[in-house]
Amino acid sequence: MIVNDWSGHTFPHPPGRRPLIGDVAGADRTRPLQSTMGRSRGLGPMFELKVFSTKFVFVTGAEVAAELCDESRFRKGLPPALEALRDFAGDGLFTAYNDETNWQLAHDLLLPAFTKSAMQGYHPIMLEATRELFAYWEAKAVGPDTAGITADISRDMTKLTMETISRAAFSHDFGSFTSPEVHPFVPAMIAALTTGQRKGTLKTMPFAKRMVRRLNEKNAHHLEYVESMLDELIAVRRASGDTGQGDLLGIMLNQAHPETGERLDDVNIRHQILTFLVAGHETTSGALSFALYYLSRDPDLLAKAQQETDQILGDDPDAEPTFEQVAKFRYLRRALDEGLRLWPTAPAFGRSPRETTTLSNGVVMRPEDWAIVMLPMVHRDPEAWGDDAEAFDPDRFLPARSRGRQPHSYKPFGTGERACIGRQFALHEAVLVLARLLHRYDVAGDPAYDLVVSERLTLQPEGFELTLTPRTPGSVATGSETLVGLERRRVPAE
Ligand code: HEM
Repeated sequence: MIVNDWSGHTFPHPPGRRPLIGDVAGADRTRPLQSTMGRSRGLGPMFELKVFSTKFVFVTGAEVAAELCDESRFRKGLPPALEALRDFAGDGLFTAYNDETNWQLAHDLLLPAFTKSAMQGYHPIMLEATRELFAYWEAKAVGPDTAGITADISRDMTKLTMETISRAAFSHDFGSFTSPEVHPFVPAMIAALTTGQRKGTLKTMPFAKRMVRRLNEKNAHHLEYVESMLDELIAVRRASGDTGQGDLLGIMLNQAHPETGERLDDVNIRHQILTFLVAGHETTSGALSFALYYLSRDPDLLAKAQQETDQILGDDPDAEPTFEQVAKFRYLRRALDEGLRLWPTAPAFGRSPRETTTLSNGVVMRPEDWAIVMLPMVHRDPEAWGDDAEAFDPDRFLPARSRGRQPHSYKPFGTGERACIGRQFALHEAVLVLARLLHRYDVAGDPAYDLVVSERLTLQPEGFELTLTPRTPGSVATGSETLVGLERRRVPAE
């Protein structure tokens, strides 16, 4: 049952509230996040929207967000949109309630598989998927010199990250770049997920029970297909007698908790796999796509990025970064960080107090209340980011410029014990892919394209195409001092 009445306190809200429907009238159903961003301007660091009888409280100011990130007082809260996903991902890591026993068990079992050093095992998988993407692009190109490959970036990055996570999680190849057909699992998973999201919205409305029932009926075959495919995969692995722990599935099936001896059951393992597939692909592909969008718009920034790839990878366009080299692409990493600042691809998270507490603005918050931290607004709060907060500037992540910034003002991977377990995975993959792509190709966007951000569960540039032409690494004009040399002098080790 959703309780979120904030002891009757009312926050500022946009004009035009109506009886019964509340603030629904001004919302854009296809881009709820962006319309909420627009409506939040001028309302201060916290505001509310009423959707019929459900109150949504949003945090847009970095200072309030920092308070809610204090783990000693607050923890993850599950707003209706996340609750609705439990039909799909159950007590998987992302959608589990804080006190559910499977959360701690799965967290403890899986954490070692997501450390920085564990990325060594995934590195070859990431390289191979990237190689397949390039082969797929180049096979489509007209002429022998692969001139003028036009790529739908969000679509292709999403295929790439889906392949990578499915191979790393359960050694399954969806054939995204090698098969002409789209594997039916992918659209079924997306349909099931989208239904979950729509139900999240409907559940806040009165008289929506019938619509929810109808949605459930329409979605049943997608969900059944997704669940049966994963159950079969688990059963086949069990029957094979393979006790290896070479992928996430192997760890979940074959490892007991070192202290309690407990193991995950098969239904929970299915929930975890679904969680990794969903949480681990569009988020990363969006991060890559936004970084590529901004870099492709600015020749100077693009030149800096390509110069870095040439310095590290050398002259051979087929060169691949070693595991150790990935951490050296400091400029690319800053470009990704900056893209995730402006467009954090998982754009919000919920927070609730552990016990009734009074916020520093005097408002009482009880454990039944939740606030939604709106990352794109927190990440653009001029108090934390300055007056040019809307501009894309990777160098704001130089350590010298990051020093002294308001704590918790940058949270694209969430916060506290429920923060993203896949952060290292996502960053290793994204840097590796960006490095290879910019080293191998010159990229040019359509100057007439204005960024359109689509909203599903995550954010992505929509309709964003790049023309890719093979480049000769080393062709970027370099100044008297190399970029890497500059970084070495200026940047203390992070
Ligand atoms: C750029 C890419 C990514 C972004 C921006 C991102 C963002 C986030 C955020 C904001 C949360 C916290 C949500 C909350 O508090 O409600 C989260 C949690 C999570 N993410 Fe990620 N994520 C990314 C990539 C990944 C990858 C690659 C994986 C898996 C391989 C992954 C798996 C998870 C899981 C399992 C959780 C739930 C953790 C828990 O509650 O114990 N994510 N992510």
